[in-house]
Amino acid sequence: RVTRHYKFNIKLQNVTRLCQTKSIVTVNGQFPGPRVIAREGDRLVIKVVNHVQYNVSIHWHGIRQLKSGWADGPAYITQCPIQTGQSYVYNFTVIGQRGTLWWHAHISWLRATLYGPIVILPKRHVPYPFPQPHKEVPITLGEWWKADTEAVINQATQTGSAPNTSDAHTINGLPGLPGLLYNCSAKDTFKLKVKPGKTYLLRLINAALNDEMFFSIANHTLTVVEADAVYVKPFRTNIVLITPGQTTNVLLKTKPKAPNATFVIAARPFATGPATFDNTTTTGMLEYKTISSLTNTKSNSKLPLLRPVLPKFNDTVFAANFNTRIRSLANAKFPAKLPKTVDKHFFFTVGLGLSTCSKNQSCQGPNNTKVAAAINNVSFVMPNIALLQSHFFNKSKGVYTTDFPTNPPFKFNYTGTAPSNIIVTSGTKVLVLPYNTSVEVVLQDTSIIGAESHPLHLHGFNFFIVGQGVGNFDPKKDPSKFNLVDPAERNTASVPSGGWVAIRFIADNPGVWFMHCHLEVHTSWGLKMAWIVQDGKQHNQKLPPPPFDLPKC
Ligand code: C2O
Ligand code: CU
Repeated sequence: RVTRHYKFNIKLQNVTRLCQTKSIVTVNGQFPGPRVIAREGDRLVIKVVNHVQYNVSIHWHGIRQLKSGWADGPAYITQCPIQTGQSYVYNFTVIGQRGTLWWHAHISWLRATLYGPIVILPKRHVPYPFPQPHKEVPITLGEWWKADTEAVINQATQTGSAPNTSDAHTINGLPGLPGLLYNCSAKDTFKLKVKPGKTYLLRLINAALNDEMFFSIANHTLTVVEADAVYVKPFRTNIVLITPGQTTNVLLKTKPKAPNATFVIAARPFATGPATFDNTTTTGMLEYKTISSLTNTKSNSKLPLLRPVLPKFNDTVFAANFNTRIRSLANAKFPAKLPKTVDKHFFFTVGLGLSTCSKNQSCQGPNNTKVAAAINNVSFVMPNIALLQSHFFNKSKGVYTTDFPTNPPFKFNYTGTAPSNIIVTSGTKVLVLPYNTSVEVVLQDTSIIGAESHPLHLHGFNFFIVGQGVGNFDPKKDPSKFNLVDPAERNTASVPSGGWVAIRFIADNPGVWFMHCHLEVHTSWGLKMAWIVQDGKQHNQKLPPPPFDLPKC
């Protein structure tokens, strides 16, 4: 067991993409940000120093933060933001996890440029449960705006209309094909150089703000081996679907002999909602190293370019099939520690709706309304003081209330024609769980403004996806079909467009844990809530006090 130290200097950096230079917020001037590497069991000590004029906080997405909730990172949930000129040390141990995760800013839309991979290697001398790869390559999908991303979010939250879509998607920060259209940015293409007859481990991360993505490599089959840093039963596919927040490890076996072609790596959105979206394809190149290409770097450009075929942008059938193929390994070495009994059942509707506007807003909805998003009709309002602090010091008054509804406030045909008079309420409401409660949540998409798939992310836990389906969840019939043998174990699950997903987790991690849609626009509109998990009775079941440098609001 070792302690690994990192220093994240948050600073501005000029970056040129799509022939335009803009100043973006970065970690250490790098875009995408630096890779954090650890082994299972290691302690990470990451000092974040804020040199920019924005408030900042960093979240370690998917890290369980067992009894280290102070290091989780979502602003106003587990900490107040790190202000200009201030610093905060994130200190946590990686317990019982190995695989790919990622870190990103967790305030406003700063994660547009503040993100990077977390690679957790297995303990020393512990092999992967799949062929040892020749090389490992993180591949992070993202979005690029020509405009300032803070301006994009302000436009969306002020008017309650869909935000301007990004100008390009990116692979490891590079747009690829859209760049090729301009001479000045023709080099902005991710290149993966491979040797024939080898196995590569691609660590896919979807860091896009608002788009679920299809990913594929022309003429190559991928073997999915891991999802959200949990090993899965390997399966082969030409196309991977990955939502914002999710990580997926795939094996790429290269052809036995270097073919006379260059293969396009492509990613493009899967989108089901009513809003417009950025439908640009980001591309990279898979190039085989041959003896001639080692001596003559130009030779590859003469090779024919083969492109993969991606599904239609709204192919919900592909999405449902792909998501149900993901199963935990569930073997003797890696058993599925799934709760077989449930102490508390919750039913949450998730989706878009309308909220009334305040006086000084120019709202674009009917009768002075704006688009909002809600869980059980509550659009979450960010508090001014971090919830974890208020909870820990017993000062909830004026910060949050514990009356988050456990069921929708009224019933309707969730996936049919919705009643037109539904106005969402707003508030900072949480749900309290006693230590070790076994929880089941059915998340039901609604079609109030339009059905849409929502990648729901839970902080502080992995959950098991015991069921998913289209239409309205049927509490009489559907539970009998739940997979209690080898369900996928993840931290982010797609609530299918016009459908539902059922998840289970054990509340064994005391603290305050955010749950939200990982589409940034929906989060901004209020599709979020928080759980409070109480301390257990034993000493080792309690959240320790905060570190001395915890930022103040
Ligand atoms: Cu990846 Cu709350 O976030
Ligand atoms: Cu959503």
